[in-house]
Amino acid sequence: MEAEIVISNLTKRYSNGTEALKGIDLDVKRGEFFTLLGPNGAGKSTLIKVLTTLLDKDTGRFSIGGINPEQEKTKIQNYIGVASQENEIDSGEKVENLLIFQGKLFGLSTVDAKSRTEELIDAFQLSEQRSKKAGTLSGGNKRRLHCALALVHRPQVLFLDEPTVGMDPLARANFWRVINQLNQKEHTTIFLTTQYLDEADKNAKAMALILDGNIEYNGTISGFKNVVSKSDSISLNDSYLEFIKSFSK
Ligand SMILES: Nc1ncnc2c1ncn2[C@@H]1O[C@H](COP(=O)(O)OP(=O)(O)OP(=O)(O)O)[C@@H](O)[C@H]1O
Ligand SMILES: [Mg+2]
Repeated sequence: MEAEIVISNLTKRYSNGTEALKGIDLDVKRGEFFTLLGPNGAGKSTLIKVLTTLLDKDTGRFSIGGINPEQEKTKIQNYIGVASQENEIDSGEKVENLLIFQGKLFGLSTVDAKSRTEELIDAFQLSEQRSKKAGTLSGGNKRRLHCALALVHRPQVLFLDEPTVGMDPLARANFWRVINQLNQKEHTTIFLTTQYLDEADKNAKAMALILDGNIEYNGTISGFKNVVSKSDSISLNDSYLEFIKSFSK
């Protein structure tokens, strides 16, 4: 498989002195379903923010789909979609209008923006919410809207930062069906972070583990289980706990 995301020696320090990324080397292949795992505060969201140009890096290099995101902002914005961890939608606008506006922002005609909106309302089961103001949605429905907004322009790479937090079990099952379909049928590269390791185990194939701003593993999930637990019939959750325990000894 071709490389999609290539990161070398990437560092990021916040202005208060926190070194969130300490020299990240990471590869994600095109079309892969990849998950970045690690404890709270390890640097997952910071890495996503740097990759999606919401934050500037300090040193190092990275490219996505051969694009240098820092030099080709418009190109990268068309190439990627991001559903960030924060529920920052505080809009008085209706759900359906937000999706239509987003489509137009990405250059779709009104007709195309409307038909794409219908597809996404259908996919993320937002029809009961379509005429509600986005700021009034429940937490789980906001997460669904976030994901729908990230997909309006059919990105090649989709970044999902803890997407299923607050989703009810039915919404969660539907969500993974939609994302797997995207990955398998449209070959969208998925870059997921989650604390629900059963979801990562079930859906992703490749993973990296970040601890305190350093990548400690990058490979397949079954490879991780084999390396850590000498078996790939163990759950990712148990293997992860084993790794963390042995690491902190
Ligand atoms: N705006 C900020 N200013 C200063 N430090 C920050 C800022 N945002 C994050 N940090 C710090 O950077 C480190 C990495 O945070 P980050 O949010 O990337 O972790 P994370 O792996 O996404 O954690 P979580 O699983 O809780 O979402 C942490 O020590 C955090 O406190
Ligand atoms: Mg985070």
